[in-house]
Amino acid sequence: MRAFSSLLIVAAIPAVLAVKTHDFKTCSQAGFCRRGRALSARAAENPSWKSPYSIDASSVALSPDHAAFTAAVRSSIYPDVKFGLDVRIHDDGVLRVRMDEVDGLRQRYNEAASWALLEEPKVSQKIQWSVGKNGVRAAYGPKNGVEVDVTFEPLQVTLRRDGKEQVVLNGRGLLHMEHFRTKESVEKSKEGVEVPEEGLDTDENAQVVLGAHPRTAWFEGDSEDGWWEESFNSFTDPKPRGPESLSVDIDFPNHGHVYGIPQHATRLDLPLTTGEGAHYSDPYRLYNADVFEYLADSTMSLYGSIPVMYAHSADSTVGIFNAVGSETWIDVGRPSPKSTSSHWISETGILDIFILPGPTPADIFGQYTRLTGTPALPAHWALGYHQCRWNYISSDDVRSVQKRFDEEDIPVDVFWLDIEYSEDHKYFIWDKRHFPDPVDMIHDVEAIQRKMVVIVDPHLKRTDDYPVYTQARDRGLLVKKGDGQTDYEGWCWSGSSAWVDFFHPGSWDWWKSLFKVQPQGDQWSWVESTVDTGIWNDMNEPSIFNGPEISMPRENIHHGGWEHRDLHNINGMLFSNLTSQAVMARTDPPKRPFVLTRSFYAGSQRFGAMWTGDNLGTWEHMAVGVKMVLANNIAGFSFAGSDVGGFFGNPEPEMLVRWYGVGVFSPFLRAHAHIDTKRREPYLLDEPYKSIVRDMLRLRYSMLPVWYTAFREASVTGLPVVRPHFVVFPGDENGFSLDDQFFVGGSGLLVKPVTRKGATEESVYLPAEDQVYYDYFNHNAYRSTSKGKNITVPAELHQIPLFIRGGSVIPTRERPRRSSPLMKHDPFTLRVALSNEGSARGELYLDDGETFSHRDGKFVWREFVAEKPAKKSKGVRLSSRNLAAQKPAEAVDQVALATYDSSNDFAKDVAQVRVEKVVVLGLAAKPSSVTAGGKELQWTFTPGVAASDKKEGTASVLVIKDPKLSITSDWEILVQA
Ligand SMILES: *[C@@H]1O[C@H](CO)[C@@H](O)[C@H](O)[C@H]1NC(C)=O
Ligand SMILES: *[C@@H]1O[C@H](CO)[C@@H](O)[C@H](O)[C@H]1NC(C)=O
Repeated sequence: MRAFSSLLIVAAIPAVLAVKTHDFKTCSQAGFCRRGRALSARAAENPSWKSPYSIDASSVALSPDHAAFTAAVRSSIYPDVKFGLDVRIHDDGVLRVRMDEVDGLRQRYNEAASWALLEEPKVSQKIQWSVGKNGVRAAYGPKNGVEVDVTFEPLQVTLRRDGKEQVVLNGRGLLHMEHFRTKESVEKSKEGVEVPEEGLDTDENAQVVLGAHPRTAWFEGDSEDGWWEESFNSFTDPKPRGPESLSVDIDFPNHGHVYGIPQHATRLDLPLTTGEGAHYSDPYRLYNADVFEYLADSTMSLYGSIPVMYAHSADSTVGIFNAVGSETWIDVGRPSPKSTSSHWISETGILDIFILPGPTPADIFGQYTRLTGTPALPAHWALGYHQCRWNYISSDDVRSVQKRFDEEDIPVDVFWLDIEYSEDHKYFIWDKRHFPDPVDMIHDVEAIQRKMVVIVDPHLKRTDDYPVYTQARDRGLLVKKGDGQTDYEGWCWSGSSAWVDFFHPGSWDWWKSLFKVQPQGDQWSWVESTVDTGIWNDMNEPSIFNGPEISMPRENIHHGGWEHRDLHNINGMLFSNLTSQAVMARTDPPKRPFVLTRSFYAGSQRFGAMWTGDNLGTWEHMAVGVKMVLANNIAGFSFAGSDVGGFFGNPEPEMLVRWYGVGVFSPFLRAHAHIDTKRREPYLLDEPYKSIVRDMLRLRYSMLPVWYTAFREASVTGLPVVRPHFVVFPGDENGFSLDDQFFVGGSGLLVKPVTRKGATEESVYLPAEDQVYYDYFNHNAYRSTSKGKNITVPAELHQIPLFIRGGSVIPTRERPRRSSPLMKHDPFTLRVALSNEGSARGELYLDDGETFSHRDGKFVWREFVAEKPAKKSKGVRLSSRNLAAQKPAEAVDQVALATYDSSNDFAKDVAQVRVEKVVVLGLAAKPSSVTAGGKELQWTFTPGVAASDKKEGTASVLVIKDPKLSITSDWEILVQA
């Protein structure tokens, strides 16, 4: 959280947005972005534009197995500068293209991928490159339908599928790797300038040849714009290494939609920034920043950056991951309705691009998460409700908040402490005036099987009585100023502060030791906490109140001599990585860590949860939060949410209730509020609001089996926990821009949270398929068609439009409990929503929810299948099968499966857990009997009402009471009709 002037923020947020846009750069205020856009403008104006970069054909060197190749690259404008290209195709068809300057003045930053990637990907042994006259080629995939062409002159990379262009690198000739140079050499090169060379024969070009060398000016422009030093506001960036930016165009012919590159407060289907139809004038910016009261519709940078972009059309999905850690701007254009162009401009770094060939959304998520990792499977409790505020001010405050939740029977799993728990903002160190008994307090929370999460920020107060700071200082682990020697000092919550350099390997074990709850000899450790205390990492962009753009000076030096500018966007990820490792290291065997981070990068999904930062209590922010969570989900980071209620402001009851409706359908569900806001814990609401929120939270808890099953799938396959329409129905064009309704995992639940003031009804789009969708609550049945269908449904304050797609089985647990671990042995309800064909299928995954024993095969993974007992039957046979025992080849953690044994300890522990109710929706006729193992069961049947022209119908409902079946065993229920 951040607020400079917390005292000045009045209760209500004015409608006028308060973001200090002048604190943050636009493209025109960043030299390298100006240069990149100018390059693009020159190319667009010049019909004979041709990239100066080419491959020296004689240099192509295939690896011994022909699976990869390297080549020398030259630029005609700098014939003496050398570049090297490295191209390879991985086992799963992902193409990696790397280019670096060779024998330059220094090494370009080349470590972004090493932090982002889970491991070095295996190069395919099957795919072979062949060298031709004009380039190097490879073909692979089904029927060799995927072809990659790397042409010599100019250098261009094209991926085709079935003869159609899918991804093109440098097709527009905007590739430019500014080589390292010195001021002196540049001055010298201007002397004795002679005749212009090729590419300079047009009038337009003649005009730009002013000042700079004519050979380079047509390409690089006529001035040394921002090459050597730059100022912004009162800050000067000395740029000791001069210009070194990287520009590349990446186009997606035949794809009319692009998604990804979080985090921006914008629509999921990215609006354009250039050309016809541009919605924004500035490119999307990736530069992790603490943006105070951010805009709800903007390309401005926010707290995290994931440089992955997907392009989509009705018959293809492809993507690229650009492993760059420095500030990056991305222009998006649409040269024709069905083609998308993008232009990536980065401040520093090598070219390291992964092309994800698709062809389906599911393939893309697999390809991306095999690179950067799937989301960690969270502890089960972490999917419950988190109650936070800046701040619960004392141990007694925490106890009384917990008491009030219990008095009002409102479920909650986690209580949070923001920065004011600490003495003078020295994190880990309790302010004993207000928290005299921290461990007792945490134990009081844990007694109801709840947890606490406590904040630990990366800024360390520079004072000798703070062991965390003095140890980091004495071990030489702090980030250095531009001189590379002096510890950098900046201003943050703790006043004069220093920052640990988590790129320094020496920091890793030391950081882990801090979180140990047992004494560590003369090494300080956090004995005043518990092994189950979760950690909140905030301010890790890093946020620095007196730094340029509220962050760290770019010339600061990290381990290895890298400048901060090189790795700025990666910085926040290392903090949460190490913190999650530290939390895990507290016990042996480890428990699943809970770490929330504000700043993130590609790969952060491996370490915990994220949230969308300091949103405002406005309807716009509520609505855009849904889109941002979807954008993070498709970018691999499923465990995402926005502050319920909005961080700033005092939401009126209607808004707060609606915000809970959004929250209970977010993967991460936390309410949070600024220190200047009024208390707004749900028990403080008047009726009917309080009861509505209680019911919404209970709905969330009842659906934890669905969420957990979805998280488990995400942790194995990379498929997002919340899925936008284009992911589930990739061929349905009506859904490509939908981002205010989505599916929960693979469950078949479709939800549209209400984010409009005064709404009493909502329009919901049902996908293009001949299928029935059931209202979750009243069982109204809506039929979609192959063209798709809009329906209008009631959406009064207590209502959340929620549907079950025909053909799904939804497992829930419907007994209200105070916290989720208390539900461990609660019985299940199965909602069987029959498809048009009278069938259905669903999954349930369970494990102990807190350790890693699932990796040793200790889990339960069931499949529920409903099918017709005979072809013409109007009845249904419902069976429960052991999915794990079938060892399906896809979508499974093979390691865990290999050790699976149906009588594992966890399965035994829950063997007595019953199915207490089965609800079958959409039976065609009243049953004559409902039996299990030959015995008649107790049941009731309510016939449906057929749809008329004016009205949708209601589904028939069969309720089977207490069939006395275990959730872990195989069984069959036969409904005869
Ligand atoms: C980050 O996490 C991964 C595990 O996913 C680990 O292998 C890697 O070493 C970590 N990075 C650092 C800086 O410790
Ligand atoms: C559904 O409504 C949206 C928004 O009004 C409209 O653009 C779309 O064409 C409609 N779709 C169908 C299938 O009627």
